[in-house]
Amino acid sequence: MLLQPSAEERLQKVIARSGISSRRQAELFIKQGRVTVNGKTVTVMGTCVDPKRDHIKVNSRHLKPPPPDVFLMVHKPAGYVSTMKDPEGRPTIGNLLDRTSVRTFPVGRLDYDSEGLVLLTNHGAIAQACLHPRFHVEKTYLVKIKGQLSDDAITQLEHGLTLDDGPTAPARVRKVRKVAVNSWIELTIHEGRNHQVKRMLQAVGHHVLKLKRTKFGPLNLGNLSVGNSRHLTDREANALRDLLEAPREPQKTTQPKKKALWAKRTKKRSTRPHETKSGQQNRIKKSHV
Ligand code: URA
Repeated sequence: MLLQPSAEERLQKVIARSGISSRRQAELFIKQGRVTVNGKTVTVMGTCVDPKRDHIKVNSRHLKPPPPDVFLMVHKPAGYVSTMKDPEGRPTIGNLLDRTSVRTFPVGRLDYDSEGLVLLTNHGAIAQACLHPRFHVEKTYLVKIKGQLSDDAITQLEHGLTLDDGPTAPARVRKVRKVAVNSWIELTIHEGRNHQVKRMLQAVGHHVLKLKRTKFGPLNLGNLSVGNSRHLTDREANALRDLLEAPREPQKTTQPKKKALWAKRTKKRSTRPHETKSGQQNRIKKSHV
């Protein structure tokens, strides 16, 4: 599906989404001259509007403006499903959220036994962009594995390896620390296949003991404690909106030279996000999407 690069949407779609009619009925209203945009009658099918800025009237009645964009970050604990409801009755991410008037849904999934950053939003196009391979949204995982990664295993992960559902794109790998016979590594990928990290590590001979997502695109889990949630800052929300404006080309992953591997992979990075108080809505400074 083609993603809308701007805030504009087809008028008939906006009318239908408001709930007053089906899309076909909306088209009929437009043809019959019963729709105005900013005071002017519109009869051209496919006219694009910005539902948050344009004043749309159907049969002389204002269309209700769409709900504000909501973006939440949750630190999912292990032992929770990353959906809002679970037919098996297990704890869900929905149980961790304060009730908000606007319904949100999780963007992508984390396994039941994984923890870390889950984005929730009511913004369909941004959710799609975050998950669509074309947008190359990176996800970073801190992973505890059995044993130590060999240089050969790292090279395989960095070049991409073949899983039962096809080859993986190149990943970035960083050794973090050793813990007795086990170790922590950081893995960054931009795909989102089922159990992908576990399967990639299994393919190079390592069982995953713990998995935590620390970054998702421009978002950083930072020090949000496990089980807590917060609204994104304006800056974070706008960084997500920027995804729609600039779909990226496939990333060129440069392979570090073997000699410098350990130094590169152990380099520390700063991970402090700006946070807002929980429950605060984003004020949108940039053009709405
Ligand atoms: N990869 C996995 O294997 N599991 C997750 O939860 C996320 C990525």
